[in-house]
Amino acid sequence: MSLRISESLDVIGPYRNNFSVGRKMCLLAVVGVLAVVCERVASQRFPPGFQFGAATSAYQIEGGWNVSDKGESIWDRMVHSRPDLIYDHSNADVACDSYHLWEEDLRLVQEMGLDFYRFSISWPRLLPNGFSNKVSEDGRRYYSAVIDGLRARGVAPVLTLYHWDLPQRLQDLGGWTNPLIVEWFADYARVAFSLFADRVHTWITINEPGSVCDVAYRGFLAPGLRDHEVGALLCTKHVLLAHARAYRVYQEEFKPKYHGEVSIAYQECWFEPKTDQDLEITLLTREYLFGRYSHPIFSAAGGWPPALERYMADKSKKEGYPRSRLPAFTPDEIQLLKGSFDFYGLNHYTSRVVRGAAPGEPLAFISQGVEEVRAALETRPRWGTATSSWLKVNPEGLRHLLKLIKQQYGDVKILITENGYSDTGDQLEDRDRVNYYKDYLEQVLLAITEDAVRVVGYTAWSLLDNFEWAAGYTSRFGLYSVDFSSPRRPRAARASARYYAGVLRARGPHADTTRNTTA
Ligand code: NOJ
Repeated sequence: MSLRISESLDVIGPYRNNFSVGRKMCLLAVVGVLAVVCERVASQRFPPGFQFGAATSAYQIEGGWNVSDKGESIWDRMVHSRPDLIYDHSNADVACDSYHLWEEDLRLVQEMGLDFYRFSISWPRLLPNGFSNKVSEDGRRYYSAVIDGLRARGVAPVLTLYHWDLPQRLQDLGGWTNPLIVEWFADYARVAFSLFADRVHTWITINEPGSVCDVAYRGFLAPGLRDHEVGALLCTKHVLLAHARAYRVYQEEFKPKYHGEVSIAYQECWFEPKTDQDLEITLLTREYLFGRYSHPIFSAAGGWPPALERYMADKSKKEGYPRSRLPAFTPDEIQLLKGSFDFYGLNHYTSRVVRGAAPGEPLAFISQGVEEVRAALETRPRWGTATSSWLKVNPEGLRHLLKLIKQQYGDVKILITENGYSDTGDQLEDRDRVNYYKDYLEQVLLAITEDAVRVVGYTAWSLLDNFEWAAGYTSRFGLYSVDFSSPRRPRAARASARYYAGVLRARGPHADTTRNTTA
């Protein structure tokens, strides 16, 4: 039986006075609880000095693929010769046309109030044939203008040297499998440092070495080659050495004058074992996919992760190779690599559950597992999904990963160089993306406040919708949408851009929504 309000008050009649006293007390209690909650929410602020930014990369946004004297990149070559490798057969010949519309991008950066903007130099736009004997005047002018434009708006530029668009000329000479690329990259880095280090203080040498070697040498990214057995591992060694050489060039020739910071940005998932029996395989999978790139640089001992080194040596022997497929480092190389960082750059998006694979179980790379170490990868039903099939939403995974990095490498400064969510891009009211950012930012904050992990900044991927590599334009990561059907490529703020602008004002995951003028 249900009572209407007036009836229920009548039933209470004789106790009305008591009720109103009780009600007042209740109200006071509620107000008290609310005040505590509000205070907790308000105190959910990132520490002073914490920096917020957003990121893009040259090939994904610039377009202008053949303007002026720009050289051809491996992406230009692949999308033109093998459009079938791109899901919607598209390319980034024009993309967001940021080569022409960069001032528009800077307007968005300013509108959100970003502390920094992470973007990349296209190697063949600056050095058209890949080598440092010829520097493109137009390339120099373009990046200089973007850097100056950011600084004029009070936004710090964070510059990536390599976000996957290798000059095709260097690919024709073997690309990342040729040991000489280590010096070619150092030469390129020196040119970039000499031109821009007076105005750029944070540098990323290589974006996601694991994608450059493991994903690209399984055919999913340019140059679209398939040689994960040997090619990917040669690439690993050279990419790492190239990073370390560039780091040393900066340290020796530029740091004394400009005092900037240089590091590398890793792509890392959170991996957890399915059962206690899967702990060992989980560790080996982590070492194969991530430790292979971080241990030589961040561990105290240097060199390859020991367990992985042993595993690869044994496996190569069984396969009949005269030496390990994982190429050895010389003692000098170990020293060159060790400590070649000023912070830990982390791109993080997703999590997986790891278990030992059953004999004969198919292990397509990442979507099913990791064949090299016979690991199967699963996801948990409760994890949300994004448009990119690989992106499963597990915010706690980021906190676990941050703790693990600290546990492995000590109290290193961590800059989250990418984190973001993909959808189909159809709507501006992207509530799922807002929730993703909020939930992941909360975990970053917990890692800082509860676990004392030294996270110094956070980068949203991406400032605007762009060419999502093999997914073409079918997966959108933008805080701002881009209408790729219009030659003017108009940008429009999504709800997530307004949310992120609020995060910047509040300096915490609970965005300040009081002002609606920005974004
Ligand atoms: C990592 C890469 O650095 C970036 O280029 C890519 O678009 C995002 N992840 C999303 O896949």
